[in-house]
Amino acid sequence: MYTYEHVQEDASRENLMPVVAVVNTKGGVGKTTTAMLLAAQAAASGHDACVLDGDPQATATKWVYAVEEAGEVLPFTVQVANAGSIAHLSMVGERWVFIDTPPGSSSTIDAAINRADFTIIPTAAATADMWQTMPTISVLQGRPFAVLLTMARANTVLVREVRQLLTEQAVSSFDAVVPLREVVKNLVGAADLTSPDTGYAQVFAELDAALAPATSPKE
Ligand SMILES: Nc1ncnc2c1ncn2[C@@H]1O[C@H](COP(=O)(O)OP(=O)(O)O)[C@@H](O)[C@H]1O
Ligand SMILES: [Mg+2]
Repeated sequence: MYTYEHVQEDASRENLMPVVAVVNTKGGVGKTTTAMLLAAQAAASGHDACVLDGDPQATATKWVYAVEEAGEVLPFTVQVANAGSIAHLSMVGERWVFIDTPPGSSSTIDAAINRADFTIIPTAAATADMWQTMPTISVLQGRPFAVLLTMARANTVLVREVRQLLTEQAVSSFDAVVPLREVVKNLVGAADLTSPDTGYAQVFAELDAALAPATSPKE
């Protein structure tokens, strides 16, 4: 990712832990999965973490209900959110915050992008999906963000093609890729989200490194 400079330039920020928005106007690209599995990675790294569920379809919130019904607990909290609550976030800096957003266009997405220290744009690793993601990418110009390739099939030229497209357009992207795997799909409603097969440990490591100036104490 070459977003690091952007983040470092923002010396005015006093947050210790970042607010991360997960945005793509296209649905079904892995936004909720990304928010939940990265929150789990943050928790596994010993941090407080929280997912803000800004999607009226409430997939993240229903995930919590499924976990509770199974008598388990998630290692992070999930809160219902909207444009207003996102603009007035509390406990900023004390925990990793991942904002899950709805598809389409909405004031929630705008609020999430405005409030976030960094935005992740999950995109299915396919050329047509990439085209559909371009409007979301244009909205984020000038802000720290990176595209995350999701649902990537192993051993296909697609990931390479999409990466080339991103490079040509000078769009920053995670080196780590999330593979298309049943294990990821089957995690919906589960409490332990840290299976090493999902690729999200690498995504979190990259994100943490990119945001290092925000996560380490100031001198
Ligand atoms: N890497 C993956 N491999 C397989 N299935 C996935 C993967 N990521 C997400 N899914 C599944 O795809 C569907 C859409 O994912 P979701 O995270 O809900 O997307 P969005 O929030 O963008 O609509 C869900 O059924 C989810 O379990
Ligand atoms: Mg969703």
